[in-house]
Parts: sequence; C-alpha cells; structure tokens
Amino acid sequence: MDTLAEVNQKGFVDEYIDPTLDLFAEIERLKKEKNAIILAHYYQEPDIQDIADYIGDSLGLSQEAAKTDASLIVFAGVHFMAETAKILSPGKKVLLPDVKAGCSLADSCPPHLFRKFKEKYPDHLVITYVNCTAELKALSDIVCTSTNAVQIVESLPADQKIIFGPDKNLGAYVAKKTGRDLVLWNGACMVHEIFSQEKITRLRERHPAAKFIAHPECEEVVLQMADYVGSTTGLLKYTINSEAEEFIVATESGIIHQMEKANPGKTFIPAPPNNSCACNDCPYMKRNTLEKLYLCLKNEYPEVTVPEHIIERARVPIERMLDISAKLGL
Ligand code: 13P
Ligand code: SF4
Repeated sequence: MDTLAEVNQKGFVDEYIDPTLDLFAEIERLKKEKNAIILAHYYQEPDIQDIADYIGDSLGLSQEAAKTDASLIVFAGVHFMAETAKILSPGKKVLLPDVKAGCSLADSCPPHLFRKFKEKYPDHLVITYVNCTAELKALSDIVCTSTNAVQIVESLPADQKIIFGPDKNLGAYVAKKTGRDLVLWNGACMVHEIFSQEKITRLRERHPAAKFIAHPECEEVVLQMADYVGSTTGLLKYTINSEAEEFIVATESGIIHQMEKANPGKTFIPAPPNNSCACNDCPYMKRNTLEKLYLCLKNEYPEVTVPEHIIERARVPIERMLDISAKLGL
C-alpha cells in the first residue's frame, strides 16, 4: 500500500491491480470476509451501482446507514454522505473509495461564515439540506433531504421563522411549495445549476411526447418547465409509474442507469447543459471507481472520521429528520 501521505495527496489508495482479477468476485469475497456493506448513491458509475448492497438517494442511504448491522460501511458516494453514515453509526468503520469526492454545494457553505449568518437571525430555526459538512449539521436544528424538505418545513408551526441552507434553489422551491418566507443561504450545486432553459425548450420541441423531470436543486426557471420535480428516488418512481415512453432528465446522469434497468423499452434523454461539456456528470461522485472501491475495501482505507463533539451535536438534527420521515412514512 502507498504511504499514508501519498494516499492523502491523491485521495485514494493507488496500488497496482492485476488486470486479470475479477473485481466483482473479489469485492464479494472481501465483503463477506469483513462483514462489510456497500451503500451507493444513484449518481455512482453503473459498475458500482451493480455491486452495491443498497442503492438509493440521500434519505434512503441515511436510513440504511442508521440500521445496518455490518461492521464496515463502504460508502460509494461523496464525503458529506460518508460523514452522515459515521454520525449515525459512530461505532462502525466508514470508508470512502476516494476522500476527494467532495461536493460543490457543501463547499458553498463554510461553517464559520454560516455561524455569522445565523447570528443575524437569533429567533430563526435552522434547517439544513443534508448536502453540507458535519460541522454545518452541528449548527442546525433539523436536517432534510430533497425527499422530505417540504414536509419537514410543513411539520413546523406556520409562524416559525426559518433559515434554510445551503441550497438556494431547493430553498426557493420549498418556500414556493409551502408558502413560507424562508431566509436562504446563497449556495448551489454546480451540476444542477448548469441546465439550459433554452436547450431544454428546443429538445422538448423535438420530443413533444417526452415528460420533462427535474431535481429540486435545479434553478427555478428550469423547475417551472418540469412535468415532475422530485428527489432521485422520486424521479425514478415517476418514470416507473408514468405511461410516457420518453423522459428528459434534469439531474446527474448516473440515475439513468437505474431508470433504464427499471423501464426496459423507455427512452431517457439527459437534459442538456448550457455548454458543450458533460456537466451533468458530477465530477465528485465520479471520482469513485470500481478499482478504488476494491482497494479501499481491501486496505480498509481511506476512512472517514468525524470528531466526537461534532458527532454528538450533528446527530440530533439528523435523527430529528429521520423521526419526522418515519412518522410520515417516507
Ligand atoms: P438526493 O439524493 O436527495 O436526490 O440528492 C441528490 C444529490 O445531489 C446528492 O448529492
Ligand atoms: Fe454535490 Fe451536486 Fe455532486 Fe450532489 S451532484 S454531490 S450536490 S456537487
């Protein structure tokens, strides 16, 4: 194995892998040997989705991390998700195939600046989207995901003043759906902000029967055009339940693997970004590869840790979210 310093610089274990090795079989063998579970987000590459024990959106992954009895969690997702798993299962070892799998949205809300922002609104309750650092969660009253954000706001008294962060697009969507006046932090996801209203309009003209579906992290102009807005699980369910044969999908392109598996014969078109790069691939999510996942399971490294005092404080708002979601059957 590389030295610790090298791993830290690269973000992953960079070790030679015999090209004749059947990685799927090796991962299965190591999983049994180590009593490990692989949790993967829908935005991971197809090979990782196919080897995962559980695949889901942010809410489903948190629920799974809270209840697993595995000794080792390999989190095929991004850093804040692995941190959330660690906070919910502090006694377990949580691994992330590449620790540089961060998140532009989490980065858009540095905790020291958010603390100052929060001080300006002392009578407000703080709801934070799960896409943020553990330190930010420790400054929050309730965490939410894109599946339950609307219901969590609605579960609070109508006159409750609320700060919502870090995603201004999800925040604006929730404010509109609930009719509440939320104080928003000005953060966003680089993948969901890139969709082009003009190009989507042109694409819809070419595919008039296609349903246009979008994740609430997209900008309001894009959400206004959508036939359905929902979390990744919500979007997947919509494609299964809809009679339509064609869908234009405005979220990270990884979800299309599950949509195609669940809907043989239906067509899924990734919504076009406002430039010619493949920007609806999240560069952080896509840092994880099957090779890195195998090496991290084999070496039990890199590990994601969270300081004890942050775990204690961040656990409360996450558990509040899980309790509200369980009561609502989400
Ligand atoms: P969900 O998993 O809640 O759909 O959120 C999408 C996302 O951007 C995760 O990084
Ligand atoms: Fe973060 Fe956006 Fe990537 Fe999700 S898709 S991990 S919110 S940068």
